[in-house]
Amino acid sequence: MSQRTLVILKPDAVRRKLIGEIIGRIERKADWRVSALELRELSREVLEQHYAEHAGKPFYEPLMEFMASGPVVVLAVEGERVIEGLRTLAGPTDPIAAAPGSIRGDFGTIVRENLVHASDSEESAEREFKLFFPASA
Ligand code: CMP
Repeated sequence: MSQRTLVILKPDAVRRKLIGEIIGRIERKADWRVSALELRELSREVLEQHYAEHAGKPFYEPLMEFMASGPVVVLAVEGERVIEGLRTLAGPTDPIAAAPGSIRGDFGTIVRENLVHASDSEESAEREFKLFFPASA
């Protein structure tokens, strides 16, 4: 089942020069391919829409500040079962609970600074494409 997912390499990944490492892991998966890619800074407006479900939670404001603290890389990735697969490759939200071998398990320690975002469902992916790559949505 070919799908597309929206991936964000968060500001910590860019600052730590892990862009190549992370995209390399994605590209090595059979059949997956990067179909759009851009380094950009995310506006407060885009972040408010992207993280609407977290508004009001204790970690919301620090998360917004972190996500606006530097450029991110926004990627579209296409391929076989890529939505579930990218979440497996990333590992769980808390990098300390993430298994070694996953991106978060190999490189992260702090829950907020967990290196990558990946859409969690087909519905989220379509909503996120409209927000981040409106021309392709
Ligand atoms: P992600 O799952 O990509 O999207 C929501 C983000 O909020 C999550 O990654 C973390 O970056 C952050 N987050 C979630 N839970 C917490 C928490 N308990 N403390 C700090 N940040 C969090």
